[in-house]
Amino acid sequence: MNKKLLTVNDAKKLDIGTVQEFYKNHISKSQLNFFKNFTFGNDVIQKAEGSYIYTSNKKILDLTGGIGVLNHGHNNKKILDERICFQEEKRMEVHKLFFSQYLAALSYNIAQILPGDLNRSFFPNSGAEAIEGAIKLAYKYYSGKRKYILHSDISFHGKTIAAASISGSEEINFDYQKISGVDKFIFNNFESLKKKVYEIKQKNEDCYAIIIEPLSASTLRKSDNDFLTQARDLCDKENIILIYDEIYSGWCKTGHLFNFLRSDTIPDILVYAKSFGGGKASISGYTTRDHIMLKAYDNSDDFSLQSSTYNGFGEECITAIEAINLIIENNYEKKSLENGETLRKILEETKKKFPNIIDEIRGSGSFYGFTLNNPFNEKIENLITQFIPIKTYRDKNFFKKLLCASIINQLYQDKNILTFGSFASDILFKVSPAIEIDKKDLEEFEIGLINVLKIGSLNLIGNFLKYKFSKK
Ligand SMILES: Cc1ncc(COP(=O)(O)O)c(C=O)c1O
Repeated sequence: MNKKLLTVNDAKKLDIGTVQEFYKNHISKSQLNFFKNFTFGNDVIQKAEGSYIYTSNKKILDLTGGIGVLNHGHNNKKILDERICFQEEKRMEVHKLFFSQYLAALSYNIAQILPGDLNRSFFPNSGAEAIEGAIKLAYKYYSGKRKYILHSDISFHGKTIAAASISGSEEINFDYQKISGVDKFIFNNFESLKKKVYEIKQKNEDCYAIIIEPLSASTLRKSDNDFLTQARDLCDKENIILIYDEIYSGWCKTGHLFNFLRSDTIPDILVYAKSFGGGKASISGYTTRDHIMLKAYDNSDDFSLQSSTYNGFGEECITAIEAINLIIENNYEKKSLENGETLRKILEETKKKFPNIIDEIRGSGSFYGFTLNNPFNEKIENLITQFIPIKTYRDKNFFKKLLCASIINQLYQDKNILTFGSFASDILFKVSPAIEIDKKDLEEFEIGLINVLKIGSLNLIGNFLKYKFSKK
């Protein structure tokens, strides 16, 4: 081959024009066109540390927390040190024929921190893969004799075929062919859940599992403690496996180590990911009760049904061990709840100043957001929509999305503050900072947000559109 390949050093030096060109030609033109609308889509990042990211000339306060991954902040020193040490000692990363002391230690630690007999774990890489594993485990537990799994109407569990099949959220906006035996209930509505379970029984069928997000990460809506208790009782009565998805809400993101610990329920399978990898390792997991794992897989024919090439890699496991130790030693639970108090106060004060923009404040711990009011009255909306393609306008949330995107862009452009939004069934402006964030950084966010909202909805949207068209 006589074509020249880029080295890692070449990659580090690519300018934004070349990066965008490579995205256009080798990744996705539409992805490029979408993110180019935002100021951050036109920056290249040099490095990241704690709650900050750096371009060649800007220091940006990252309040996205890596969308759930960065409870420990960017490049946490203790996590980096453990990884460097592991590499320098030339530890064996993978060999499926030897037992791994790292995998053993991580599984042991997880069993120590989780309640009840949640003792048996498996560690793949992505959240969706862990969800797939949980579905498969529950199905196998009933030897394929039970056919149904129930999920909520606003759930998001990932983008692989099985995880997407049980995702009610509009985040999955294409109707993929689903796995069979899937039905949905209304989020946080026990009557709806119970009705589904007994409708299925009337057909002489049974549910093998019910999957719940104790806190829905896409919408920041909470399942009430009563709902969780009733769901747990129903699962006990009907021998249904209860799965909690804490992929985003886990590891103290919403205050407690896991969000479900605010209730007195314990799931049969707990699924987690994101900050489990300390912002450095691609590792997820599910943990189940002894009898479930023993019946499903613990026999000589079936134990290998649960494995994948990269599951339980050494460096991923030691990173998760360190990540968990830091969470416990540094009392992330307390820190996250304190961040939550500050964030709630900031957002409530800001809402008082801008009630026409901020609608409902939602969240808990280091994960907050607000829904937005429609920026236009009906008359102005009708006027503007004359110039908008029909398909776009049919989206009832179009103007809220536009306003949310405009706030996010202005905060970044004027204040060097990175935030994000959720554009599923509810449009939410979100902040999800690292748990290790300084209080002064949250105060900087408060000042930045107030100054940006002072610009007013119409001007914010105008600025955003001006920026968008300048990048065409
Ligand atoms: C609640 C929840 N479940 C599942 C997933 C899927 O995880 P992953 O993107 O790692 O596949 C996500 C990702 O954002 C999530 O927030």
